[in-house]
Amino acid sequence: MTRLTADQIRARAAALGEWFHNIDLNGVKTAPDHFLHDYPNVKWRLFAHAVPEDLSGRTVLDIGCNGGFYSIEMKRRGADRVVGIDFDDRYLAQARFAAEVTGQDIEFRKLSVYDLALLGERFDIVLFMGVLYHLRHPLLALDLIHEHAAGDLMIFQSMQRGSQEVEPVNADYDFFEQEHFDAPGYPKLHFIEHQYARDWTNWWAPNAACAEAMLRSAGFRILEHPEREVYVCRRVERPTEAGAVYPASPPHGHVSEGSRE
Ligand SMILES: C[S@@+](CC[C@H](N)C(=O)[O-])C[C@H]1O[C@@H](n2cnc3c(N)ncnc32)[C@H](O)[C@@H]1O
Repeated sequence: MTRLTADQIRARAAALGEWFHNIDLNGVKTAPDHFLHDYPNVKWRLFAHAVPEDLSGRTVLDIGCNGGFYSIEMKRRGADRVVGIDFDDRYLAQARFAAEVTGQDIEFRKLSVYDLALLGERFDIVLFMGVLYHLRHPLLALDLIHEHAAGDLMIFQSMQRGSQEVEPVNADYDFFEQEHFDAPGYPKLHFIEHQYARDWTNWWAPNAACAEAMLRSAGFRILEHPEREVYVCRRVERPTEAGAVYPASPPHGHVSEGSRE
């Protein structure tokens, strides 16, 4: 636990740039003017009950960990090991500082979700919160999490837009049947060509049916839906063998016997 004074914490937090996570660092808030208010604490309070309270003996991977809010909460629940990954150095520096001040032993690594195979490890709990819609290849990311990182539970959250209705999806439809595509409860992934909320990293906005269908399709059974955008899932077998799992080949840097020639 750090012995920094409140003024020192404030100065160091400010030097780390603008924070997306509003974290309480010994009374100093890192993003007091957040446009979503006390974020992500307001979100966390709505689904914290659905995450096991005692995580001792479990490992956690926090994908897109940002300033480390959820990694710290997982460690506070006694997780044996928490690994937070993000591909943004600025956020990783914030997360390391937040963990230092709160006295939590967390490993933060610079890694993209697309390179998860490099971890070479499955985790009991994977957090995949607020990242899907920032990816150009969201289903690929889910496939990779399933293939390389998820051991049991996944806590998933995505921004959702469009209808909240969810209708059952048939196993197949006739070629000339089209009405279901316009049904509010049919899965839809809205593509954002330019920006949304002045953020060019927003690429997709699924409706509720689509978020659920994508999870199922990637091999995640929804156990609970504790908050409008949050799902607690269990890794199960993929419903079909078909699907893009990239890279099907070994991770970067690995040279197979055959390729040495
Ligand atoms: C909206 S924030 C969500 C942060 C946190 N998970 C939460 O729910 O509050 C999205 C985060 O995902 C990270 N991110 C975006 N694309 C990523 C990628 N390909 N691999 C890893 N992290 C990524 C961003 O740097 C950012 O920290």
